[in-house]
Amino acid sequence: MSGTVYLVGAGPGASDLLTVRAARLLGEAEVVFHDALIGDEVLRLASRARKVAVGKRCGRHATAQRFINKQLADAARLHRVVVRLKGGDPMLFGRAHEELSFLERQGLRVEVVPGVTAALAASAQLGISLTRRGSARSVTFITPRVGHGEKESGWVAAALAADTAAIYMGAGEAQTIAAALIAAGKPADTPIALVEDASLPGTRVQYAALQDLPGLPTSGGPTLILLGEVYREALLEAAPSSAPAPRPRQPQAVQE
Ligand SMILES: C[S@@+](CC[C@H](N)C(=O)[O-])C[C@H]1O[C@@H](n2cnc3c(N)ncnc32)[C@H](O)[C@@H]1O
Repeated sequence: MSGTVYLVGAGPGASDLLTVRAARLLGEAEVVFHDALIGDEVLRLASRARKVAVGKRCGRHATAQRFINKQLADAARLHRVVVRLKGGDPMLFGRAHEELSFLERQGLRVEVVPGVTAALAASAQLGISLTRRGSARSVTFITPRVGHGEKESGWVAAALAADTAAIYMGAGEAQTIAAALIAAGKPADTPIALVEDASLPGTRVQYAALQDLPGLPTSGGPTLILLGEVYREALLEAAPSSAPAPRPRQPQAVQE
């Protein structure tokens, strides 16, 4: 009888943002295959498990996906509880589909445990909602990252269509992102929030206009770019003298 592979969301970094289910499964796990970005505090919860790092840190594919799939399947044939621990939520830019479909094709049991994705952790930290009644009704989660041989991405159109955009895996492509969005019609003064290491003690937040994104320094931690009018007040507060004049306000929505 084989065991179950749990694709578990580890959240954005802070160990107390794990779900109770994730913490329980880590305590029960016999093997944990984890991403590079998972912190020691989270891994310590898997006290009885053999821990295997299979991470792919932003573009550097330390271990081929096919090999990870095979390791998961082999482990499930030997152990009752196998955890595949992924940063944030497994179902968002986490290659969950590849692992789920491979394991299901092998006839193995697999379950997904959701986690707090980076955009939600960053929003909580900023205290700025991704949506706003009356003015921001749509949010898009996008990445400009395209793997070798993959079809072109519609991330620019998605960013233009939504009121707020959360751009994952974009920090290394700031120049390209700003240029592509502005060329496609996004106003150059659209406010952005750049959030590095959301939820962690060394976290850093910078507000800027889209045109200034390429000049913002980052220190190499996982970084999220949030884009939209919901960040305008914060941008004005962060740099009142140099910020562009505020846009006319939307009519006030009636409070619920
Ligand atoms: C491969 S994606 C995985 C996303 C993950 N599944 C999630 O739901 O957050 C990695 C990207 O997520 C973002 N990210 C993950 N953790 C973050 C954090 N603590 N702070 C800021 N951005 C983060 C960064 O854009 C990073 O390049």
